Amino acid sequence: MCGIVGYIGKQVAIPILVNGLKKLEYRGYDSAGVAVLDPEKIVVSKSVGKLVALEEELGDNHSLSAIGIGHTRWATHGRPSYVNAHPHGDCNQDFAVVHNGIIENYLELKDELIEKGHNFVSETDTEVLAHLLEDYYEGDLETAVRKVLATIRGSYAMVVLSRKDPNKLVAARKDSPMVVGLGDGEFFVASDITAILSYTRKVYILDDGEMVVITEDEVKVSDFQGNPCMKEVYDVKWDAVAAEKGGYEHFMLKEINEQPRALKDTMLGRLEEERVVLQEVGLTLEELAQINKVYIVACGTAWHAGLVGKTLIERWARLPVEVDIASEFRYRSPLVDKHTLVVVVSQSGETADTLAALREAKSRGARVVAVTNVVGSTVSREAHDVIFTWAGPEIAVASTKAYTTQLEGMVLLGLYLAQVKGTLSSEKIGKIITALKKIPAQAQEILDQEGLIKELAKSFVQVEDAFFIGRSLDWAVAMEGSLKLKEISYIHAEAYAAGELKHGTLALITENTPVIALATQRDVYDKTISNVKEVKARDARVIGLTYKGNTSLAKSVDHVIYIPETMDELAPILTVIPLQLLSYYVSVARGCDVDKPRNLAKSVTVE
Ligand code: AGP
Repeated sequence: MCGIVGYIGKQVAIPILVNGLKKLEYRGYDSAGVAVLDPEKIVVSKSVGKLVALEEELGDNHSLSAIGIGHTRWATHGRPSYVNAHPHGDCNQDFAVVHNGIIENYLELKDELIEKGHNFVSETDTEVLAHLLEDYYEGDLETAVRKVLATIRGSYAMVVLSRKDPNKLVAARKDSPMVVGLGDGEFFVASDITAILSYTRKVYILDDGEMVVITEDEVKVSDFQGNPCMKEVYDVKWDAVAAEKGGYEHFMLKEINEQPRALKDTMLGRLEEERVVLQEVGLTLEELAQINKVYIVACGTAWHAGLVGKTLIERWARLPVEVDIASEFRYRSPLVDKHTLVVVVSQSGETADTLAALREAKSRGARVVAVTNVVGSTVSREAHDVIFTWAGPEIAVASTKAYTTQLEGMVLLGLYLAQVKGTLSSEKIGKIITALKKIPAQAQEILDQEGLIKELAKSFVQVEDAFFIGRSLDWAVAMEGSLKLKEISYIHAEAYAAGELKHGTLALITENTPVIALATQRDVYDKTISNVKEVKARDARVIGLTYKGNTSLAKSVDHVIYIPETMDELAPILTVIPLQLLSYYVSVARGCDVDKPRNLAKSVTVE
């Protein structure tokens, strides 16, 4: 998730671009750059790191051009570096482009363009757009952009300027947000309203499949085929802070709601009909044949994702998996050697315990695969292979979209290992991929029902203890649900394997004790119902969670939360969403600091 801006008007562009990028830094901040038309040539300034480095680079005697584009990066393809920073240009610097999203077919396009003699300088997918423009341009920038849009696949919000067609910005969006700011004799384009609120409150909110041609005098919105689109002017009522949260009250709620897009982005370019494509994992068949054991090592929520990964890898790839808390792993002389695959999971890629575990595993000769959300993070640089989750920056301390995309990473890795080892047929892999592709829309379906969860949360405001139970994969999600509730609402919450209750915890269940019972796993459903009955017999207040269409659970509990039906192995990605929402609304109702809960930090870089 990156931030993009564009300006055309009467003012000097660079201060407006930099100010806009500052407001978008929460979308990504590993490098930044601007390009202006001055007037015969495109002048580009870039820097690595936060925006303050770009401001230093620009200094005070920068170009006075009144047209330009800018970008603050959250790396997906290509580590954070000067050459990978946007804007990107073509061979002759006739075009400059900034882009937020993922061009799914960039590698094949890049090969074709190199064949034609184009010289690439970066590792990014975005640079392909500039060279395609060079290839397609025949006198009209808008037509060239349309040809590019007909060629690429993936998600994008892009803005283009060219010295061949000066005093014009052309922008387009598909699956990444973009707004057009309508000023007085000046126009703006940006990833979101935050970037332009200082200059205008009148915007067009572009929809998917729309593009816009902006000159000093007019804004022309059309579809990708050139048919004009009528747009309503949206008068923004938000203040700047609210705008950064996309209009949500907290980053956590915004990030919960970003999950459908994050899940979709994380599977982009990685799923074929009956095959998983993980270019970033170089495990060959010979190397995999040497692997006789897998460890998954992580902390907190990431460790909970590992619990799910264990079941998926054992079930699909038939490899024994041990899941370990990173802070324990390195002090117990783990049985790790060159025949061990160690998977480290970390949203930030900087967690000290997880990093130490990675280094311990490498020192013992293991092959290390990282699943992380931050390109250029220490974990991503020190692992042998990396599966990036493309959730975009996660600001709230409580991890939500990172967790569900980590689960997706576990699914992709499990399928990949099964595919390389031949332990799953192509037909079975195809069935799982078909179900996985439905998950983003199913996640949205759950989010659309959030009012029911918000209502349920009111009954937790005075609660002091809560229990989450489940069997198999439901137990792993119960662990995550319990952590979410305790870390942001400060309610004492515990998760238990449902079958374990009678071995002690049942002593704590009294009248009205809230118990959230997850009951999706079909092979242990009846056993879970028996456990539910155990707590009901002690007058607990039980909130069940199961698939839509399962009417039996309602007979055994006080309240049921339903999720769309899917394969049991994929259910955790959906089951957790109501639990995230429940924790969020309980925390708000209890007046807690949702995004920055007491005593906690977003990334624990100390042991
Ligand atoms: C999750 O809600 C917590 N904030 C915490 O448990 C977190 O998952 C843990 O610190 C690991 O962080 P990482 O994924 O960045 O390594």
